[in-house]
Amino acid sequence: MTKAVFIKDLGQYVGQSVEINAWVKNFRSSGKIAFWELSDGTGQCQAILNEAELAPELWHKSKDVSLESSVKVVARVAKHPKREEYELQVSELYYYQIAADYPIAKKDHGIDFLMDIRHLWLRSKKQWAIQRVRNTLTLAIYDFMKINGFTKIDAPILTPNACEGTTELFKLKYFDETAYLSQSGQLYIEAAMFAHNRVFDFGPVFRAEKSKTRRHLTEFWMMDAEMAFTELADNLKIQEELVRFMVKNVLEKNKEELAILERDIKPLENIDKPFFKMTHAEAVSWLQKNGSKIKADDDLGAEDEGKLSLTHDNPIFVTHYPAKVKAFYMKRDPEDNNRVLCADLLAPEGYGEVIGGSQREDDYDILLKRIQEHKLPLEEFKWYLDLRKYGSVPHGGFGLGLERMVAWVCGLQHVRESIPFPRTIYRLRP
Ligand code: 4AD
Ligand code: MG
Repeated sequence: MTKAVFIKDLGQYVGQSVEINAWVKNFRSSGKIAFWELSDGTGQCQAILNEAELAPELWHKSKDVSLESSVKVVARVAKHPKREEYELQVSELYYYQIAADYPIAKKDHGIDFLMDIRHLWLRSKKQWAIQRVRNTLTLAIYDFMKINGFTKIDAPILTPNACEGTTELFKLKYFDETAYLSQSGQLYIEAAMFAHNRVFDFGPVFRAEKSKTRRHLTEFWMMDAEMAFTELADNLKIQEELVRFMVKNVLEKNKEELAILERDIKPLENIDKPFFKMTHAEAVSWLQKNGSKIKADDDLGAEDEGKLSLTHDNPIFVTHYPAKVKAFYMKRDPEDNNRVLCADLLAPEGYGEVIGGSQREDDYDILLKRIQEHKLPLEEFKWYLDLRKYGSVPHGGFGLGLERMVAWVCGLQHVRESIPFPRTIYRLRP
């Protein structure tokens, strides 16, 4: 019996006969010899079918091949004479299925066409590479959090109230009452922080904002982290180390994928340098000098973030935003009560915000006042206020958007390709 192996492991079998189970990604023939490009999801390789070396009925059968046909071949492994690639000299062939006419051809298709057949588009080389990078980033988050003593806490998705603000929630009927899909697990992991100290969650969150930008999804994956006995400077330090760890993991583990994506890796290699920090006030003054209409106490618009993040070759922290543009739970700056102790991390190359974080208000009376000022339903926030009643501590945390990270690291135009099945205001299918 020939051993079944993955394409990624072919290097271990040079000179031997192995079985490969894969899909046909491309094929061409020059009379007596046919070349098939195979992928089994772990890697790609070329299979060579030679009329002289195949049984006549197999050679005949090989002509039925079509794009995406699923096959089993028995073949001898050879190393490509010039490149670090392996070739298969096929001796046996079996079709699991000869695929029907595959709708994705080599020619350029429009984005809507491709998104309508996202279930098939995921097989394309670039889409394959993106999901592999996403996987590396996800695993890197878990590794980093484990190394740094964080406990994973699973926050609920069905919630009775908003975390970030009340206007952007998906509402649903929950028996006799109304529930909302969670925007962020933050408030819940704050509760768990009092039991475990350093905690994080990682899961899908939902925003009903009708944003049409290239960086907004209605469903995306967020990692929230929360740390007890921590001030803003240490919060930023952890974020910087996390992002550096994630990017370095991709640079190490996804060379092939980055090459497929034609990603210029020079900007990613800057990640070892310290991240730049500027205050919101400094950012505004720079932006005003560079043609933005932003006012002193405005939030940074997507365009502003883009401009700022083009000026540096590494991520930038923008700190101390005006309190009025940020969430109710952020702690005020003792040196300027109109500002909060917060930071957004902007990815370079025009990508903009990938992390939002802050020091949390830890005083019961002030937090109560903020909840009232924001006209939030006090009844729903009683449990959250309790956390400031029983052993309150200085604490802070942040939320990292996975798709924004994937888009930046892969160099994607739009965040929609960074998630397998994107949900936007225009798209709920497939
Ligand atoms: O800045 P945001 O809204 O922060 C929070 O939700 C906090 N509760 C997080 C915390 O402190 N624990 O969102 C965090 C990150 C953003 O920086 C961005 O990367 C991503 O989530 N994000 C989105 N990604 C895709 N589509 C959207 N509509 C996004 N909104 C936010
Ligand atoms: Mg934000």
